[in-house]
Amino acid sequence: MKTKTLSRVEREALALSNDPILVKMLEEERVEADEVDMRLFAKLLAYLKPHKGLTAVAVALSLAESLLMTLPAYIVGLAIDAVSKAGARDGVFDGILTAMAAAVPVSQDGPTSLIIAFGAILLAAWTLRWVIAAVTTYLVQKLGQHVVHDLRVDVFDHITGQGLAFFHKNPVGRLVNRTTFDVQSLSELFSDAFAQGFRDVLFVIVLCVVMFKLDFTLSILIVGSFPLLVGVALLYRALARPSLRTMSAIQSRMNAWLAENIAGMRENQLYRRERRREAEWYSLTQAHQASIYRVVQAWAVLRPGMMIVSALATSLVLIVGYGRVTEGLVTIGVLITFIEYTSRVWVPVRNLAEKFNIIQNALTAGERVFNILEQPTTIKTLSTADPNLKVVKGSVEFKDVRFTYPRTTEEVIKGISFEAKPGEMVALVGNTGAGKSTIVQLISRFYDASEGEIRVDGRLVTDFELPNLRAGIALVPQDVVIFAGTLRENITLGAEYPDETVLETLKAVRGEILVTRNEDGLDQVLEEGGRTLSAGERQLISFARALLVNPPIIILDEATASIDTETESLIQEALVRLTKGRTTIVIAHRLSTIRDAHQILVLRHGQVIERGTHPELLHRGGEYAALYQSTRAQSS
Ligand SMILES: Nc1ncnc2c1ncn2[C@@H]1O[C@H](COP(=O)(O)OP(=O)(O)O)[C@@H](O)[C@H]1O
Ligand SMILES: [Mg+2]
Repeated sequence: MKTKTLSRVEREALALSNDPILVKMLEEERVEADEVDMRLFAKLLAYLKPHKGLTAVAVALSLAESLLMTLPAYIVGLAIDAVSKAGARDGVFDGILTAMAAAVPVSQDGPTSLIIAFGAILLAAWTLRWVIAAVTTYLVQKLGQHVVHDLRVDVFDHITGQGLAFFHKNPVGRLVNRTTFDVQSLSELFSDAFAQGFRDVLFVIVLCVVMFKLDFTLSILIVGSFPLLVGVALLYRALARPSLRTMSAIQSRMNAWLAENIAGMRENQLYRRERRREAEWYSLTQAHQASIYRVVQAWAVLRPGMMIVSALATSLVLIVGYGRVTEGLVTIGVLITFIEYTSRVWVPVRNLAEKFNIIQNALTAGERVFNILEQPTTIKTLSTADPNLKVVKGSVEFKDVRFTYPRTTEEVIKGISFEAKPGEMVALVGNTGAGKSTIVQLISRFYDASEGEIRVDGRLVTDFELPNLRAGIALVPQDVVIFAGTLRENITLGAEYPDETVLETLKAVRGEILVTRNEDGLDQVLEEGGRTLSAGERQLISFARALLVNPPIIILDEATASIDTETESLIQEALVRLTKGRTTIVIAHRLSTIRDAHQILVLRHGQVIERGTHPELLHRGGEYAALYQSTRAQSS
C-alpha cells in the first residue's frame, strides 16, 4: 500500500479531508519537491542575463548596504571609547570614522562636541542606508518582474507551438497555473529569497571581517554560535517540510475542487448536492488548517529557540568581554559593539528559515515551469520543408495511414487510403469512436500519422511549412469555440479584414441575422464560450471563419450534428455555399447532407468497411444502407 510511505501530517490530512484525489496530489507534490536540483538556479540565472546592468547595480548596492548595516553599533562603541579616552584600538573603520568626526563642525568643546559629531555620523549612516535600501528594493523587485514577464512570454510562446497531444497531457487548469501563479512564486524567489539571502550572506561576511579586526576571541564566541543557529534553522526545515508539502498539495486540490464545483453548480443544485458539497469543502479547508498548524507549531517553538541561542552568545560575550576589558585587552566601546553584533547575526539566519517556505514553494514552482518549457514541440515545421510551397489546388490523399495516439497503445486508424481530387467531396461516416475526427485532424497536422502517407496537392503534408499547410485548410469542428469579444473578432479571430468583407462572408453563410438582430452589429460583444448564442448560431460563426480564409480545402466535422431542424435548411444552404468549388472532407451525422459526395467511406474501428457513392452503397444494401434507413426512420 502506498499510504504506508505517507508522513504523519499527510495521513492526518487524508483522514480529515476524506478526499481520494488528494492522495494523488500528495504523491505528485512529493515527486516534484524531490526533483528540485541545482540546475534550476542556472536556468533561472539565465533569465538575468538580459538585465546584466541592473543586476550589477543591485549587487553593488547590496554590498554597500551590508557595510552600512555594521556601522551603527560600531559608531556607538567608537564614540564611547573616544569620549572616555579608552586607549588604543584598531578596527576597520576607526581611522575614517574618527577623521569624519573631527571634520564635523561643532561649536561645543571637548567630549560633548565629539558625541554630537558621532551622533551626526550615525544619523548620516542610517539615512544613507535607508536611501540605498530603498533603491535596492526597487531594483530587485524590478528585476523580479522582468524575469516574470520574460518567463510568462516564453511559457505562452512555448504553449502556442504545441501539438494537441500536449494539451491532452496538460489540462487547461495546469497550464494556466504554470503561466500565472507558478511564475509569480518564482518572482518571489528572486526578490525575497535570492536578493534577501544574498544581502544576508554579504552582511554576515562583512560583519565577520569587521569583528575579527576588532577582537579575535570575542569574534570566535559569536561565530561559534552560528552552527547552533543553523542547526535550529535546519530543524525547523525538517519539521516544517512535510507540512508545507501537504499544505501545497491541499491547496492545489482546493483550487481544482472549487473550479469544478463552481462550474458545475447547476448540476449540484439540480441534484440537490449543495449540503454534500459544503461538507466536502468543510473537510478540505479543515485539512488545510491542520497542515498549517503543524508549520506554525514548529515555528512557534523554534523562533524563540533561536533567540535563546542568541542570548547565550550575548551572555558569553558579556562575561568573557568583561574579563578582557579588565585585563585591558579590549576597550569598553569594542565590548558594546560586540554585544550589539551578537543580537544582529541571528537575523539573517532567521530570515532564511522564515523564507524557507517561500523558497521551497518557488523552487517547486520553478521545476514545474521549466518542466513545461522543456517539453519538446512535437508538431513543427520540418527542416526539409519547402518555404515556397502553398496549398493551391486542394487535393487530399491518404495512403495506408495508420495512427496511434501518443501515450496509448491501441491503433485507432488502421490503414486508411482514399483520395479527394480538387473540388471533390469525400464523406466519412461511422459510429462514434470509429476514428473520423482523428482522420481529419491528421490532415492539418494536429498529429502526425504513425505510418503511411498523407498528401495535399500531391506533396506530403510535412513538406509544407506548418502555417502554409494550415492556411490552405479550414476545419469546422463540431464544438465551436467562441472567444469573449465582439462578433467581428470572433469571425476574423484578430486578423484585419474590412467590415464589408466580414459582412459579405456572414451573408454568404446565411448569418446576416446575427448582425441585424443586434443594434451593435459586428460590434456586439459575445460572451466567453458563446453562452448567449444557440448552437446553430455558433455554427454559422464557425462557417464564416472558414469562408473568410477562403481555403482550397474545407473539413466539416459533424458540423450539422447539433443543429435543430428549423435552422437546418438555413445551415444546409450555408454549407452548399461554403463548400462550393472546394475540396471537402465531410464527417456527416445527417446522411442527407452527403448524397452528392463523390465518395463515401464507411468506417468501423479505424478501418474502411465500405466505400462508394450514395446510390452505390444503397444498392449494396450493407452497413451504409442500414444506417441510412435508420436515420430516415428517425427524422420522419
Ligand atoms: N486524444 C486522444 N487520446 C487517446 N485516444 C483518443 C484521443 N482522441 C480520441 N481517441 C480515441 O480514438 C478513437 C477514435 O476517436 P475519434 O476519431 O474521435 O472518433 P469519431 O470522431 O469517429 O467519433 C476513439 O476510440 C477515442 O477514444
Ligand atoms: Mg468525432
